[in-house]
Amino acid sequence: MRIVLIGFMGSGKSTVGKALAQKLGYDFIEMDNLILEQSTYGSIAKIFAEKGEPYFRDLETSTAKSLTDRRDVVISTGGGTPSRNENILALKNSETLIVYLTISFDTARTRIGNDSTRPLWQDLAKTRELFTSREPIYHSAADLVVNSESDIDSIVSTIQHSLLKGGNS
Ligand code: S3P
Repeated sequence: MRIVLIGFMGSGKSTVGKALAQKLGYDFIEMDNLILEQSTYGSIAKIFAEKGEPYFRDLETSTAKSLTDRRDVVISTGGGTPSRNENILALKNSETLIVYLTISFDTARTRIGNDSTRPLWQDLAKTRELFTSREPIYHSAADLVVNSESDIDSIVSTIQHSLLKGGNS
């Protein structure tokens, strides 16, 4: 199986992904880290600043495509990965469970804090608009929707339970 975690910035994709991978004995891949490992920029903020968002989105798409054949892995996507449908198609096959970790905007804001280095979390009004526009995209890509404001153990066991029940079938 392969589990792909999607959700807005601050929804805990990395934290949940690491815990889940450990529980399942799977590899854990964070797409943003993979993008950075394969580039010389050092930070996502630097890619946005020097090359712009479309360049970052293209790196994200090629990274998603490079993961198509990976099995027994938990993949934590970036918050914007599902906004290109080709990314979801690249990450999804019949043995993939796509889990949307939901979060309220206010909780995300508290988790992220005020000194975010995230390029898309600089202007609160714009970030809130992005949040609203992305919700339907996350929902339509998801096989399973889990509230990320629950405790980590129950999030991990909800996902495990869904895998045992047959995942996305
Ligand atoms: C982004 C989210 C970030 C990162 C980049 C763009 C987005 O990842 O990929 O800053 O478009 O929402 P996290 O969701 O891990 O913060």
